[in-house]
Amino acid sequence: MCGIVGYVGSRPSLGVLMGGLRRLEYRGYDSAGVAVIDAEGRLSTHKRAGKLGVLTQDLAAHPIADGVTGIGHTRWATHGGPTDANAHPHLGDDGKLAVIHNGIIENFAELKDELLAEGVTFSSETDTEVAALLLGREYRATGDLTAAFRKVVGRLTGAFTLLAIHEDQPGIVVGARRNSPLVIGLGEGENFLGSDVAAFVEHTRRAVAIGQDQIVTIRPDGIEVVDFAGQPVESEPFDIAWDASAADKGGWSSFMAKEISEEPAAVANTLLTRLGDEGVTLPELEGIADDIAGADRIIILACGTAAYAGMLGKYAIEKWAGIPVEVELSHEFRYRDPVIGPKTLIVSISQSGETMDTLMAVKYARESGATTLSICNTQGATIPRESDAALYTHAGPEVAVASTKAFVAQVTALYLLALRLAELRGTLPAAAMRANLAELSAVPDKIATVLGTGAGIRELARGMSDTRSVLFLGRHVGYPIALEGALKLKELAYIHAEGFAAGELKHGPIALIEPGQRVFVVVPSPRDASSLHPKVVSNIQEIRARGAHVIAIAEQGDVAVLPVADDVIRIPLASPLFEPLLAVVPLQIFAMELAAAKGLDVDQPRNLAKSVTVE
Ligand code: M6R
Repeated sequence: MCGIVGYVGSRPSLGVLMGGLRRLEYRGYDSAGVAVIDAEGRLSTHKRAGKLGVLTQDLAAHPIADGVTGIGHTRWATHGGPTDANAHPHLGDDGKLAVIHNGIIENFAELKDELLAEGVTFSSETDTEVAALLLGREYRATGDLTAAFRKVVGRLTGAFTLLAIHEDQPGIVVGARRNSPLVIGLGEGENFLGSDVAAFVEHTRRAVAIGQDQIVTIRPDGIEVVDFAGQPVESEPFDIAWDASAADKGGWSSFMAKEISEEPAAVANTLLTRLGDEGVTLPELEGIADDIAGADRIIILACGTAAYAGMLGKYAIEKWAGIPVEVELSHEFRYRDPVIGPKTLIVSISQSGETMDTLMAVKYARESGATTLSICNTQGATIPRESDAALYTHAGPEVAVASTKAFVAQVTALYLLALRLAELRGTLPAAAMRANLAELSAVPDKIATVLGTGAGIRELARGMSDTRSVLFLGRHVGYPIALEGALKLKELAYIHAEGFAAGELKHGPIALIEPGQRVFVVVPSPRDASSLHPKVVSNIQEIRARGAHVIAIAEQGDVAVLPVADDVIRIPLASPLFEPLLAVVPLQIFAMELAAAKGLDVDQPRNLAKSVTVE
């Protein structure tokens, strides 16, 4: 949460900073601000509550002097509401120093008391201002911004990425990170800092990820990284796998629409080089091959949509590889006393690789002796770096807050993992392995077919824009899809929505059904001998008898749903475990279209941020 960008070089910094903030706005959009050191060596700042557009207009109406060194911030509010005063940057050293921050400084209250006792005054309610004032105090004592950082970071607890500039040192930006992300962009005669590579990918595709508890100083002609004790740190540059156009809307009405359209490619790219006719190739797992082959239990850790992908991973791993799997929300796992044995394999799933709840759970599991594997979509992110091994999804940058293409890519990666586990353990006959590989390789084309039904789903959504409550039902692999459908509708259209296991309905939730209640039902294929199709059709009949308006998501040719459903959305034929990869797509489109019909911002829903980097 919160997007951070820093620049030092030779071009006007405001353009670089505002461009970076535009690409980082998905991380938070309560307020935005910039600080630059102008050609006269003076610090100028400007910040405004509201989305980045408000700041952009304000800067056009009231320009500030530009320079070649600056920092910029887009905020997701934690301490203090989304006001101009609480927007970043915050100032220290009598207005000569500007600081921006991502994270939460947990001991800010006691530090604030200390400063108040010294007679220091505050102009915001944020935890960040404490860091700015402390940095100002230490800068006055040391006359060196990097040295001041070293003094201050030792006093802070919690999670933080901090960037600062000082008008006495106009050619540098200094940053520090603990438990929040920070990446350097390496340019020619210029360097960049960002919460992620999107901040600077239009200027350079060479980057360095800053490790835990490190301080970085960037100058036009170089970078220096030290740990919190001041010892130099060697850093390994990497090439960013996508270019700036991948993070642009490219003519689509929203990032979400564009990202849904990219789902076939997200799956295909995640399969690329990994899927053969006879088996899967995952060299990323070689370093932990013995641990995964010997695992007697797997715990999948994730939050939100990624956790629903994890539920599908559980079905696949248990069915194909016969290993017991639990799926747990990272924040629930971390703060109980989970039993972790030496043969426990932890699989974390995170699109951003920065979700603090998941990061903390992974660290805890690793410290407890588990082997940790991260499924992640973001190069250089913290969670894969903190894990024993990483299996990257290749969905490309996901900018819309609602996760869509990352979800199908995560499920794809989990299925690859499940098949690899089955290979290592010899649990799948060769014919079943081949059939699954063929099903996986067919998924991109089948998703493309579902995308072709978008117009009908838009009509359905438009007709439901006054609806106040929608329920989603599914059994087996349809259940996580019901949960995901409900989550999408809540977060995008602000409509009360719940997902239920269809069999659970009669244990209580059926009392919610009243005439006209809209219910989406994910219907399994009738072709599978062990299919739950008849049971789901019975569940539909139970709610229809009580007046529900049923929208069935059913495969082509399933005629049994016709007499019981009010609307039917068709998906291509697929065997049970692959059906969710298709059934989720209409629900994503439905939520997006309903939000759009209500005039809502589908890319930046209220109160949310893409990357949840606070606990
Ligand atoms: O970056 P992550 O995959 O770790 O994010 C996890 C959740 O915060 C995320 O999936 C969230 O639920 C989405 N907004 C759902 O669309």
